[in-house]
Amino acid sequence: MKRVTSFVFTGQIQTIEPPKAVQILHQGSLRRVKVAKFLRPSLVRMQPGQWIRVVGEQETKTEDGQEQIRYKATDLMILEHPEATWRAEDMPAAIPADIQTLTQTIKICTKGSCRKQGSLTLLEELSQRCPAGVILVPSGCLKNCKAGPTVCLGSRMLSRATPERVWGSLLV
Ligand code: FES
Repeated sequence: MKRVTSFVFTGQIQTIEPPKAVQILHQGSLRRVKVAKFLRPSLVRMQPGQWIRVVGEQETKTEDGQEQIRYKATDLMILEHPEATWRAEDMPAAIPADIQTLTQTIKICTKGSCRKQGSLTLLEELSQRCPAGVILVPSGCLKNCKAGPTVCLGSRMLSRATPERVWGSLLV
């Protein structure tokens, strides 16, 4: 069985495998990430030890009871200030229990203006504690650029979104 979902995580580059992959240490585990063709030229600027945020698709395959995950990056960002990136201990208290049973798709704009206002950090924070029934989808511009990060929950739009406001809005 094969399942494709989106991912975003921050980690430290361990090895670069030109021309198409990079190994990244993320929360103690090593992930091999294949890089989309159009991004491969950016690998030459990377070095082991740098901190990087990766966005892309992950394919989860189950064969003979064994789960295999393949990562494919569609966006790579070198982080200048790794101390400003997400740390598990910075996460807010657990999300409300009522949300655990909800099914909902949440779109998070990851285009220019929202990205400058922190939408990739928001996406990463949400993905760390996302309940099983909630699907996070990186999206194009949602036409609310000045008040980002912008998030869409069904037909509702949320401006200046934070994890707390997103989880809180799901209950309304
Ligand atoms: S860039 Fe996010 S709403 Fe336009």
